Amino acid sequence: VSTNKGLKDWSDLPIGGAINISKVLKDSKLDSITHTNFNSITATNDMKMYALVEHDSIPDFTNVDRLVAYTQKHDMRLFGHALVWYYNVPEWITNMTNKKGAAWADAYLKKYITTVLTRYKDDVVAWDVVNEAFADKSGEFRDEFWFNTFGKDYIEKAFRYAHDADPDAKLFYNDFGHERHPEKLNGIVAMVNDLVKRDVPIHGIGLQMHLEMDTTEKAIANALKLAASTGLLIHISELDIIFNTRDENAKDKPKITTLTHDMEMAQAEKFKQVVMLYRKHVPKTQQFGITFWDFNDRDTWIKPFYDLKEWPTIFDENLDPKPGYYGFLDGLTTG
Ligand code: G3I
Repeated sequence: VSTNKGLKDWSDLPIGGAINISKVLKDSKLDSITHTNFNSITATNDMKMYALVEHDSIPDFTNVDRLVAYTQKHDMRLFGHALVWYYNVPEWITNMTNKKGAAWADAYLKKYITTVLTRYKDDVVAWDVVNEAFADKSGEFRDEFWFNTFGKDYIEKAFRYAHDADPDAKLFYNDFGHERHPEKLNGIVAMVNDLVKRDVPIHGIGLQMHLEMDTTEKAIANALKLAASTGLLIHISELDIIFNTRDENAKDKPKITTLTHDMEMAQAEKFKQVVMLYRKHVPKTQQFGITFWDFNDRDTWIKPFYDLKEWPTIFDENLDPKPGYYGFLDGLTTG
């Protein structure tokens, strides 16, 4: 791969990277691998509700504007992540809701979504409208602020507000663990089918795919097939692959703390497998692309979050391509 050609140039489906815009603008090597390899960008954190309205109701759009400028400069797609998420809902919102009730929260949700989508109508092509509404491992809704305030209706409300504000945007439901928890997968697919049936404007499903090396081919294929059976767009939205496990039931399993050549080669095969399964099981017209979360072993969220030594991405800690990069490339171009 020559220095000015990257993954996107060998791909007929969009290839995305999740970035923190401040980091990219400060680091020329990170900037270079980002715009060389990706034609779709998701903000790791910069477009989350807690990032925009942490302290009060007036959004701070500084970083989103920088993201828009960056993606325009490099002719990339900007994918919005995420409008409604239970994690880190700003405290002033939960306080106001406690004080004024669900009607206030509904009005604010509508105002928030309308303000953000109207402003970025011409810049953001798709949104994760609702993120992680399901419990970690089951087909139940998560016990959290939005659900506790509105019941599951908040999901439908959010999609409707988003569509009213930007009728051209592709609207996604995003979650994790489809490949690991069949009941969760079935629950999500049933919810999506129900929304479609009732003409709620939903256009896509994001499968985060934070995988482990032991996630089976069959499990990944099954998640993709079932998600694609809805007929909606399918985005692998946050791909990475860890060697350790995040299963609390396997807490006593010895931790892997060094990366061997064999491990890297096995991971390369796994990245290849993911893209080949995606191309095989998701019809061309439903392929919205594959996005790598963080995409380098220096910046990956996994290490601080799970307190692990890990190598879950396609670039190493020096931002050089790993065997996984070439495995993925191979998967893009085979067949
Ligand atoms: O910016 C502050 C910094 O000032 C402070 O010193 C530091 C100390 O904790 O925290 C920094 O903020 C952290 C932020 O990432 C930026 O690194 C937050 O604590 C931390 O909670 C936040 O984590 C992000 C997490 O979502 C929560 O928003 C991760 O970067 C991000 O990768 C992760 O992404 C999620 C997706 O949105 C949804 N799917 C799962 C995925 C992984 O958890």
